[in-house]
Amino acid sequence: MGAVDRCYVIDDFRAAARRRLPHGLFEFIDRGSEREASLADNVAAFMRLRLMTKFLVGLGERDPSTELFGRRIAFPLAIAPTGVAGLCWFEGELALAKAAAKARIPFTLTSTALTSMERIVKEAGGICWLQLFPWKEQDETFALIDKARDLGFDALVVTIDWLSSPWEQIALRLLQADRDVRVGKASANNRPRLFLPAPLATK
Ligand SMILES: Cc1cc2nc3c(=O)[nH]c(=O)nc-3n(C[C@H](O)[C@H](O)[C@H](O)COP(=O)(O)O)c2cc1C
Repeated sequence: MGAVDRCYVIDDFRAAARRRLPHGLFEFIDRGSEREASLADNVAAFMRLRLMTKFLVGLGERDPSTELFGRRIAFPLAIAPTGVAGLCWFEGELALAKAAAKARIPFTLTSTALTSMERIVKEAGGICWLQLFPWKEQDETFALIDKARDLGFDALVVTIDWLSSPWEQIALRLLQADRDVRVGKASANNRPRLFLPAPLATK
């Protein structure tokens, strides 16, 4: 039985990830921006939601499947794009795509993926969506869209809220702590286990 089999609620996954991942990578996933107000609001909003329970309505046969963009999916859920999936696990994007195909739900490949679109389609299959940060270079943006369509990607998830890098104070604090160690201002014993992939570092 692996650690994941002992995860029953989302907090269990978080604790397992904290144990396994390099510190900086865990913080990147776990933290929000600045004072993390939106993060706290989102958690509070989800805590307020309740599922409406129905009784005596014959639930022997349940079918949560639904149709989305003309495709039948087994459950009204899709895997959202996550830029660091390939760093959290060896071939993490491929693993996620295979899991999604097995569960018959869509998988969204981030445009910052470490795995090519070709490999995802060939080795995982299933319903694949591509997430796109529209670039200034329109020709290249359209070329990417054409390629995704030709490979059989079903939908585009266009991200429009990343026009500039958010103020990631957590990342900056980690980087500063690392610099302090290097210039001798702090002891190497206090050194954070820093691991921020270059494209994710803000400075
Ligand atoms: C670690 C992490 C990486 C993400 N990477 C991307 C990305 O590469 N592209 C993107 O469009 N959204 C990215 N997102 C945003 C998610 O796809 C999602 O829209 C967002 O987390 C809101 O969903 P949630 O409330 O379920 O977390 C990322 C989110 C997280 C937490």
